[in-house]
Parts: sequence; C-alpha cells; structure tokens
Amino acid sequence: MSLQRHLHSSPRGELPYLRAVASGNPPSSPLVVLLHGARDRGRDPEKLLAHGLGRHVSQAAERPYHFLALQIPEETAWADWEDELLARLDAVIAEANVDKQRIVLAGFSAGSAAVWHFASRHPERFAALVVVAGRLPETVIDDGLAALKRTPVWVFHGGRDERVPESQFRADLARLQALGLPVRVTFYPDADHFISDAAYSDPALQRWLASVPRRTPGAARLAHGDADPLFVNRWSPRALSGEAIDDATLFRLLEAARWAPSASNSQPWRFIYVKNGSPQWAELSTLLSDSNRLWAPKVSALVLLLSRTTFVRPGESDPSPARNHSFDAGAAWAHFALQANLAGWHTRAIAGFDKEAARSLFEVPEDYKLEILIAVGQLGDEAELPPQLRERETLTPRRPLADLVAEGRFFFPNDAAPGTPVGASRGQTAAAAGTLVGTTG
Ligand SMILES: Cc1cc2nc3c(=O)[nH]c(=O)nc-3n(C[C@H](O)[C@H](O)[C@H](O)COP(=O)(O)O)c2cc1C
Repeated sequence: MSLQRHLHSSPRGELPYLRAVASGNPPSSPLVVLLHGARDRGRDPEKLLAHGLGRHVSQAAERPYHFLALQIPEETAWADWEDELLARLDAVIAEANVDKQRIVLAGFSAGSAAVWHFASRHPERFAALVVVAGRLPETVIDDGLAALKRTPVWVFHGGRDERVPESQFRADLARLQALGLPVRVTFYPDADHFISDAAYSDPALQRWLASVPRRTPGAARLAHGDADPLFVNRWSPRALSGEAIDDATLFRLLEAARWAPSASNSQPWRFIYVKNGSPQWAELSTLLSDSNRLWAPKVSALVLLLSRTTFVRPGESDPSPARNHSFDAGAAWAHFALQANLAGWHTRAIAGFDKEAARSLFEVPEDYKLEILIAVGQLGDEAELPPQLRERETLTPRRPLADLVAEGRFFFPNDAAPGTPVGASRGQTAAAAGTLVGTTG
C-alpha cells in the first residue's frame, strides 16, 4: 500500500499526517514514527517527503515497517502536540498489524530533540530511538533519561553542524553514557546540520529499523562499534504467528545456508523441511520435548539440519571421516537464521527433540548426524504463549568482548569458576577491551 495523506482532527485543530503500511502488512511489524524538524512545520506534508526518512520511505520499493509522520503547524513546538501524537499513534496501532513493542521514534533536528522529550516521558512505548542532528533538551531530566536504559538509541551527527555544534553533541553524549543509555553513534566529521538524507538512507540503519526487536524486559541490544544490526537484532522468539511459509521464502533461507563455508568445501549440511499442516507435521511435533511442544503449533516450518559425517576427499574414492561436519553445519544454521532475519522472518534452533525417533521417522542413515531442528516463523502475539513461556520471552544479553577475546595468549580470567572473586581481573580485562571496542563509531 502506498503512502496516504490524512488529517488528524483534535479539539485544538487539524494536523496533516502521512502514513504507510508495511509491504504485505505482515503480522507484528515495526512502526517508525518520524518527528520532523522546525523548517518542515506547516500544512504541506509533501515537505516531509523532500529529505531524510520521508524521502526514503516514499521512494523505497519495499517497506519493511509501517510509517507515520504528523506535521505540526508553524510557530508551534512538538511538545505542544503530545496528546495528538499519542492519539494518532494509538489509532495506527489499532488499524494495522503494528507490534506495540516495536515502535521506533525517529527525528531530525528539532524533531530529534522531541524524540528525547517524548521518549523520556513515555519510555515504555518505544523500542528504539533515532536521533539525527538533534540536541538533548535541558528540560529532559536525568530520571526520564535513566528510564531509557533498555532502549537502544542510534545518534547521527555532523562535525560541522552549525545549529548543534560538536561540543554540544559531545556533552550530550557524555551525559547519555554516564546515565548508562545504550547509544550507538555515527559521526560524519565533515558534514553540516543537514544529514538527514545520509543518515536515513544508511542501509545499516534501515536494517536496524526493519529488524528492531521487541521491547522486552531483557537487555537492550546494541553493538559496540560498527557491527551490522543484522547480527545484533537476530533473536529467537517463541511467540510466532502460525503464518504459512511459501516455498520462495523457505528456499531463500536455504539458499543462504548453502553458501556457508566448510572444511575442504565438503558442504556436509543437509536439510529436511516439514511445513506446519503437512502430512509429517503431527508426527514430527510429537518428537519435540515438552517445553518445545508448547510453542510449536505457531511455527511455520521445522527444518531438520543434518550433517554428513563422512566425506569423499577430492582425488579419493572412499569416504573418510569429516572432522568438522558439526562445525560446518553450525555455519549453515547461522546463514539460515540471518537470512531469515533479513527477510522479516524469525528462527529458533531446537536441540530438545528425540533424535533417534526423528532418525527413524525420516529414515536417516547412520553416517548422518542429526544436529538441530530450526523453527521458522513470523513474530506473533506474546499474549498467546503459555504463561511459563511468556515470562521467558525476552531478549538475551551477550558477554562483553573483554570476556571473550585475548591477544596472543590464553587470558580469560572471567571464566573462573563461579564463586571465585574476579573483581580485580574484571577491571583489567575491561580496560584491555577499550582498545578493541569503541563505544562510538
Ligand atoms: C544449538 C541450539 C539449540 C537450542 N535448543 C533450544 C531448544 O531446544 N528450545 C528452545 O526453546 N531454544 C533453544 N535454543 C535457543 C537458545 O536458547 C537461544 O538461541 C539463546 O538463548 C540465545 O538467544 P537468542 O537466539 O534470542 O539470541 C537453542 C539454540 C541453539 C543454538
């Protein structure tokens, strides 16, 4: 569906707004709400399409998220229109397949200051924030900002911004970091204030918006440095929608898996897929462990990942043991899962199933190892999960790189057995990590 122009009526007047539905209107899609800058105020919403996110959304062939942009009148400020913004937001949530836990506020200039204003007043409403060429208003108090510790923020700024000078930007950043907000920064040293096109057409930002995870009680997910959002935003929900998956989508994921690297290019991975509702579905789902059986009914397809344990090396005629078959199959699973994420689908690996029964169900020969089942589906309604799973439906954190990386020697002091004091070594490794991990970039 294309971009639509409407008027929002309120007792205080009418505000033009633009909205667009995500391509295909899939269940549980994100909604990105644009807060425009001061010069785009008025009664001509076409202005909002001239640059930045508005331009990107109006020109994109595919739209992986819903889009909403209100326009406020000249001589007024965003803070004057809080009721209208929230009312329109609620109306859009009610009309489309918007996931209430996947709403992103995205600003430019004065609209970015408004992002801080609204998000700090309603932290539970937003899953992520985008702040482009904006100032952190002094009126936003620390308590309000501290409530955003689970809300990832991506800040874009130009080093030659004449309206929000670099010194102001650095001071704002220091304040956010001191409060523990998860902030990622893209800094354009030579750019002025008008960076909305560069920022909002950044493919990594667009992947971030498209794949923004749900706001859950778990940790905020944000990469240190420049790792692509693709890796960070992949997560494994159990709340899926039961949507049927077509062959084109499923084979896109399998195609990505096929291109994984493997020892001697042996390509030991094999896949057996079973779609929900197909003849083998009922039997395969009975092989799941009890807890996995609870959420399986809303899975679109289960893919059994096998690895061949023998390999005929080039120039030889007899098979020999493939020493890295499971490792290689793991790479294929990662490709599969990441491609699913790019395509707007989700996966969850399942080791909890009866492998021997699955071997006989599919008559898998002995020289193939059953690795995992991959559950594929689209995000669904968390409220439909049984209570014991609902409380576990949360984003998982990751250990810091400082725990995981050493240069030139084995040095992982935080792997000490539980109960062993690690305080001193923890400080040491965190300091060492500073050379590996930038908080900005
Ligand atoms: C090899 C493997 C086996 C897993 N088995 C199960 C399983 O049987 N049931 C389940 O609910 N989750 C299972 N998981 C999901 C993990 O718990 C999950 O990936 C992990 O907690 C990290 O969370 P994330 O994927 O959301 O980042 C498995 C994951 C992997 C990689």
